Amino acid sequence: MKLQHQTWPDVEAYLKSKTGIIIPCGSTEQHGPVGMIGTDAICAEAVAVRVADTAKALLAPTLTLGQAQFNLSFPGTISLRAKTLMALTRDVVASLAGQGFTHIYFVNGHGGNIAPLQAAFQDLYRDLGGDLRCRIRSWWDHPSVAELVVRHFGDGEGLHATPSEISITQAVLHAVGSAERPTNIETLDTAFIRDHSGDNHFDADSHRDQFPDGRVGSDSWLATAAAGEQILAAAVDATAADYAFFLT
Ligand code: NI
Repeated sequence: MKLQHQTWPDVEAYLKSKTGIIIPCGSTEQHGPVGMIGTDAICAEAVAVRVADTAKALLAPTLTLGQAQFNLSFPGTISLRAKTLMALTRDVVASLAGQGFTHIYFVNGHGGNIAPLQAAFQDLYRDLGGDLRCRIRSWWDHPSVAELVVRHFGDGEGLHATPSEISITQAVLHAVGSAERPTNIETLDTAFIRDHSGDNHFDADSHRDQFPDGRVGSDSWLATAAAGEQILAAAVDATAADYAFFLT
């Protein structure tokens, strides 16, 4: 149930029996030569729409801008500063909490959002207290999804412009990028993955120098709509279960 398609009396009636709401959050940033700039928001929304349907929960508008400063040297990327994203999160949650929503669940599609949102939650708990509970969970952050991704793509998954996220966009939008696959796809070493997973990168210019086509160790060309359907279904099941648990 999209919040945007409700009337205020609909929402008031919903709040008599339910106080949870789902908010997809993503990013607007380059995703390599074949991935769409909206990939993270598209994936988070695709999962959240189906979870909200299953849970008969309200679905708030997607937060399509995230913290992605390391990608700003690639045209098309729009990044919020971490403090802007924290302020945005605070205003969104405080608006809903003031009306009686107590459980705010963010379905996340972008690693760079996690730290700012979790920091914003801490400030909200301090300032609002009471029975407010917030959670951010990335769609890939469930064992069943991770296993499926490894089975499909192995080391080709990499860290950015991953075949799994691009597969989901292909499943949802039936669009495939046309850029040619390079002959050599680099693989990341364990130390790099340890230090930089969760979009933990340095400045934008050095990021583009290090990863000139925008991918970070991902073989984006492995993406298929069929894999995207499977991964999406697994992410929806795991997220729906996590949302149900979050409400208890
Ligand atoms: Ni992404």
